[in-house]
Amino acid sequence: MAVIAVTKERRAGETRVAATPETVKKLIAAGWSVVVEAGAGTDSACLDADYAAAGATVEKTLKATLAKADLLFKVRAPEAEEIAGLKSGAMLAATLNPYQDKTTLEALAKAGVSAFAMEFVPRITRAQVMDVLSSQANLGGYRAVIEGAEAFGKALPMMMTAAGTIAAAKVFIMGVGVAGLQAIATARRLGAVVTATDVRPATKEQVESLGAKFLAVEDEEFKNAQTAGGYAKEMSAEYQAKQAELVSGHIAKQDIVITTALIPGRPAPRLVTAAQVASMKAGSVIVDLAVEQGGNVEGAKLGETAISANGVKILGISNLPGRIATDASALYARNLMAFAGLLLDKEGALNPDYEDEILKAALVTKGGAVVHPQLVG
Ligand code: NAI
Repeated sequence: MAVIAVTKERRAGETRVAATPETVKKLIAAGWSVVVEAGAGTDSACLDADYAAAGATVEKTLKATLAKADLLFKVRAPEAEEIAGLKSGAMLAATLNPYQDKTTLEALAKAGVSAFAMEFVPRITRAQVMDVLSSQANLGGYRAVIEGAEAFGKALPMMMTAAGTIAAAKVFIMGVGVAGLQAIATARRLGAVVTATDVRPATKEQVESLGAKFLAVEDEEFKNAQTAGGYAKEMSAEYQAKQAELVSGHIAKQDIVITTALIPGRPAPRLVTAAQVASMKAGSVIVDLAVEQGGNVEGAKLGETAISANGVKILGISNLPGRIATDASALYARNLMAFAGLLLDKEGALNPDYEDEILKAALVTKGGAVVHPQLVG
């Protein structure tokens, strides 16, 4: 029986876990045996006793957890001590931040690990259930609004009271992918007046269907801003200047701005300048979800709340899904469970078909080398 190992996340601030008692039970039913490192799920409300009750072996040490592992499940990339504990030929499924964390990829290759970067799972129908970017971005978008509301010294909904009326807060969402759509929905549920912008034309209808108002420079470049894969292209300097001009007047009137804009494999686009921050009212809040990829907002600092001279709070929270760890782990664990199903053959033996479109797209290291076409050369 092939063995899956689940270790405690070692990267700073990571509260999620790559398997839950629910997925452990299903993995075992599918023919795997599962070893969990003691304490791996504590921050996600998954207790050792629950893993054991689900059929996992709970090991006290990292070494024992990894000793027989054929496949390691992780949220983030493994640390050197984890890689060292894996046998050559073992497999790994994790979010590996492959464009930025080249050192880990080299180490995995050197150790003979066949590593799959979950970020590279293609966005085809069959792989939706394995889409960690979507499952985590959705919760990140939700949490961004909660954090923004928490840092904001006013209410979001309009309230009519005997002592006077409180106006509804104005929330502006910049970047309407998975995270942005959930941010719109969450801000609307809390009673805010919501507007949103994106460079992909398809988002206009999505924004409007959620009851928010769409705002964008809708020129020829905008009409062609979506790649065949559904992602945004990097926009020209001219477009960005027009975009900045359009949103400048708007940003000045907003109470909460949430930015989520990303371009795969590139630094995050700069959407909010220091001058725009300076135009906002004191007490306004900006949440920069792209802060880990360089940030959409000038002055955003990873892991910190920066306060501008005019009293605007810029939240640079890293790992927003980790602030809703129980749900984030539950969904991530289901994504990985579905992915693991691809690695078994019809007889239930660990025998991946590396020609499978999903495995081919996600495989980053194998046979001692970094093998993904976008990462070599
Ligand atoms: P993402 O995380 O790569 O980027 C977030 C958003 O930022 C995107 O909507 C992008 O258009 C926007 N953006 C980029 N540059 C910008 C700029 N300069 N100004 C304003 N906005 C900017 O996107 P995410 O959430 O990964 O979604 C990307 C696409 O994938 C979408 O089309 C989405 O519908 C699609 N998708 C498809 C799935 C499937 O078919 N299984 C699953 C999930 C998403």
